Amino acid sequence: MPSGTKNAPVAILMGSDSDLPTMQTCVDQLKAFGINPIVRVLSAHRTPHQACEFAANAADSGIKVIIAAAGMAAHLAGAMAAHSQLPIVGVPMQAKDGPCGLDALLSTVQMPPGMPVASMAIGKTGAKNAAVFAVQILALSDTGLAAKLADFRKAQTEAVLKKDAELNA
Ligand code: RP5
Repeated sequence: MPSGTKNAPVAILMGSDSDLPTMQTCVDQLKAFGINPIVRVLSAHRTPHQACEFAANAADSGIKVIIAAAGMAAHLAGAMAAHSQLPIVGVPMQAKDGPCGLDALLSTVQMPPGMPVASMAIGKTGAKNAAVFAVQILALSDTGLAAKLADFRKAQTEAVLKKDAELNA
């Protein structure tokens, strides 16, 4: 389990430690931007009181974005939204059984009006994008992070152009 950090601006919650191999991508991407996130296993169904308490206290503890990953009937991101005004980023996990993460995707994305969750893609792509999206939010008020984000985008563009050039050499 990756260690968390006090006063971190980003918290990653996951419904089970079985989500960690997928969400490690999110942890790694945040760390690449110099952010050491709080990482917790809390479930909307198995530890509902602790999950809601975490959401209710998150803003006061300095957290600015909550990333919530869960599989199956994935209510963790919605539960965070119900108990916090912070931006909530949801990452649907692909369970061992079931319809390839579509269950979690729909549970995460189909929030009622007035209670948004920013749902990412299923699995590792969503885990990576959750980290980048959180950085985009934080970069609005952090020029250093905005510069790192610009570098990240530039490197990504250059990598694609390099592959294109190699293909056409
Ligand atoms: C969800 O149920 C978790 O987020 C996980 O994706 C799924 C299965 O959990 P485990 O049975 O592996 O603990 O709550």
